[in-house]
Amino acid sequence: MNSSTPGIEPELHARRAASFGAKAAAYATHRPDYPEKALAWGLAGARETPERVLDLAAGTGKVSEGLLALGVTVTAVEPDAQMLEELTKAFPAVTPLIGTAERIPLPDASVDAVVAGQAFHWFHLDRAYPEIARVLKPGGTVAALWNHDDESAGWLAELNTLIKASASRRWLSDYESLPEHEAFEPFEKKTFGHKQPRTAETLVATLATHSHMLVADEEEREAKLRAAREFLDGNPETASGEFDLPLTTTVFRARRR
Ligand SMILES: C[S@@+](CC[C@H](N)C(=O)[O-])C[C@H]1O[C@@H](n2cnc3c(N)ncnc32)[C@H](O)[C@@H]1O
Repeated sequence: MNSSTPGIEPELHARRAASFGAKAAAYATHRPDYPEKALAWGLAGARETPERVLDLAAGTGKVSEGLLALGVTVTAVEPDAQMLEELTKAFPAVTPLIGTAERIPLPDASVDAVVAGQAFHWFHLDRAYPEIARVLKPGGTVAALWNHDDESAGWLAELNTLIKASASRRWLSDYESLPEHEAFEPFEKKTFGHKQPRTAETLVATLATHSHMLVADEEEREAKLRAAREFLDGNPETASGEFDLPLTTTVFRARRR
């Protein structure tokens, strides 16, 4: 369980995990949020209704934003100062802390829920699980969310094949369940339909914020993004104006024993 992204060697894993800050503002503008229902289902894994929630690997605050809308008190932990700066600008109600999943700067049993968006695959779960268990109250819940492309839309499957990078993009969410840990009951999984309004230009901007693009050399990145734009411009569903990028949000939740 040392490297949580299957098929990625440790050096590249570390480089990709740390790649987001360089494009923090673009990330905030162009990455999708999470459906309220998906976040609510994650929180509902707790024995009692959560009040204090940790957004772990908070990035620019996509999860924090949804949690605030659900009326809970949010603390954000994120290792990248540039990402956290975007979060602080946009969501002053959130308490921002520099930290990692393997070393969470919070006291024992201090939160009712821990939520991580698009991030569990970056964690070293052998160290992150005990830390998450430590900061959670007994009966609290951990929830891991991922947005991914709904490739039942043929054009999106085609686009993704076209821009497949040398660095792979496999997610833990492709699996039936997350690895188990003695501190938690088994994970439950649920998926939610989601979408993000995009244009050809802004979808290319979204693609440019993915870690496999951020770590690619400039020539490869430019070539992939150009190919994506040409494809979108030539595809009737995306050639002009706004369209919906179809997404699926996968949520795993497990209760702290
Ligand atoms: C794809 S972004 C997700 C950000 C945000 N949760 C969201 O849903 O938009 C992944 C985030 O995980 C952070 N990260 C990478 N490794 C981490 C670790 N070991 N512990 C905590 N956060 C980590 C990165 O800095 C980055 O902000």
